Amino acid sequence: MKTPNDTGMNRTGIQTSPIDSRATERGAEEGQSTSLGGESRIAEVRLEMARMGETVGSMPPPATVKGMAKTAVTMMKGESPTLLLNKLGERLAFERSGVRLYEAVIDKLPAFTVDGALAGPGVADLRKIQEEELRHVDVCRRAIEKLGGDPTAMTPAADVTAVATMGLLQVACDPRMQLADSLQALLAAELIDNDGWELLIQLARGFGQDEMVQAFTQASDEEHVHLTLVRTWLASMVMHEAGIEEAIAAPLA
Ligand SMILES: [Fe+2]
Repeated sequence: MKTPNDTGMNRTGIQTSPIDSRATERGAEEGQSTSLGGESRIAEVRLEMARMGETVGSMPPPATVKGMAKTAVTMMKGESPTLLLNKLGERLAFERSGVRLYEAVIDKLPAFTVDGALAGPGVADLRKIQEEELRHVDVCRRAIEKLGGDPTAMTPAADVTAVATMGLLQVACDPRMQLADSLQALLAAELIDNDGWELLIQLARGFGQDEMVQAFTQASDEEHVHLTLVRTWLASMVMHEAGIEEAIAAPLA
């Protein structure tokens, strides 16, 4: 089976055409800016606009009377309950995307069987992780409802993370992306998952939400396993393709 590591018709490098590359270099040296200013002006505009203090969104007001009461009590203590709700909304959205991410990779998996043997995860392995990601969505939903929030609301942090990670789903859904490419996207997602839960545990602890700390710790433990598995599969596949079988035995954190 052809892999992206095989040599093809890639002519993007400058060395494929020495004559044109010299002309390109000359053009770059002789060329003039098409607009006034430069990097410093771009930096000025960025700073000016950042100082306007606009945000990507806002938190919804508490949907229930219970929610309003909870918000009022915690705010009196000087805490920001909406911050926790914002981060919970982020986690919920990301875990939901994680379910879709794994679904896309599971759908494509049979296409990557090489000579009847698969150097990487099996459907059952990915399905197990996917089920845990789905359970994590529910952990977030229950925590949001406990705080009187609306789990269906798109919070600003959820919005930011969706923008930051939109490439991951694109990689997983693109039929040209090989299993190792998809695992690379899953690895990025799992690294974010791991840090996301760690921060949520700290926040929940700070807010004295012991039940949440317990539920989040279990989710975090499961995410550690996901990360180790995806890392190992990816390294194994890359090493296998490189023909360096011995390195597979190397311990992975
Ligand atoms: Fe995960």
